[in-house]
Amino acid sequence: MSNKTVIIAPSILSADFSNLSSALNICEKGGAEYIHVDVMDNHFVPNLTIGPLVVKSLRPHTNRFLDVHLMVTNPENLVEPFARAGADGITFHIEAAENPDDVIDLIRVTGKQVGISLKPKTPVSAIEPFFDKVDMILVMSVEPGFGGQGYLPGSTERIAEIRQRLLEQCLQDSVLIEVDGGIKLDNAKEVANAGADILVAGSAVFGADDPVAAIQQFINKITN
Ligand code: DX5
Ligand code: ZN
Repeated sequence: MSNKTVIIAPSILSADFSNLSSALNICEKGGAEYIHVDVMDNHFVPNLTIGPLVVKSLRPHTNRFLDVHLMVTNPENLVEPFARAGADGITFHIEAAENPDDVIDLIRVTGKQVGISLKPKTPVSAIEPFFDKVDMILVMSVEPGFGGQGYLPGSTERIAEIRQRLLEQCLQDSVLIEVDGGIKLDNAKEVANAGADILVAGSAVFGADDPVAAIQQFINKITN
């Protein structure tokens, strides 16, 4: 597991919202391949953040993968707007979808990557029926809603459990595992070793004195 490529996905949730194009520059300079965009609706989660118009404005400023994480009820309503705005991948929450198959199909027809996410208390069995229909599983390692929370320790076992189930179903090469919440330099390696392919980091990047250096340090941690 230690030699595989792990991607760092800075979350712009912790960036300066008055200067998001600079946040994109930081991500690119640091060498991040993905840029994580947290969409919150003040309903599925208490917070309220970014809509499709913002993603549309960001799109011309970067060619990195715009990784849109929908923390919203009725995700089906937002798939097309975010796809048109220029998202590269769209992830929805299993807890928010009345009919997950329909949401998956909606994302699929846009040609974007399909992600499914689960909150820390949702059993892995809830998403297992969709393993072979998605490109990515986003494991929440904090309760969704806010940046800057602490990594929930049971998350590492959940990542390993999902990795194991993907292996058993021969899906290890077709489905990526992304982990989101409380990722810091000191736990990044543990999370990667448990089976994560993509690590989201918000406050650990944009709260650092030198965010470019922080991204580079993450990349060094997970590739050495
Ligand atoms: C939380 C968001 C995360 C958040 C991570 O609901 O989904 O992406 O930005 O922030 P940190 O890395 O600070 O936990
Ligand atoms: Zn997120």
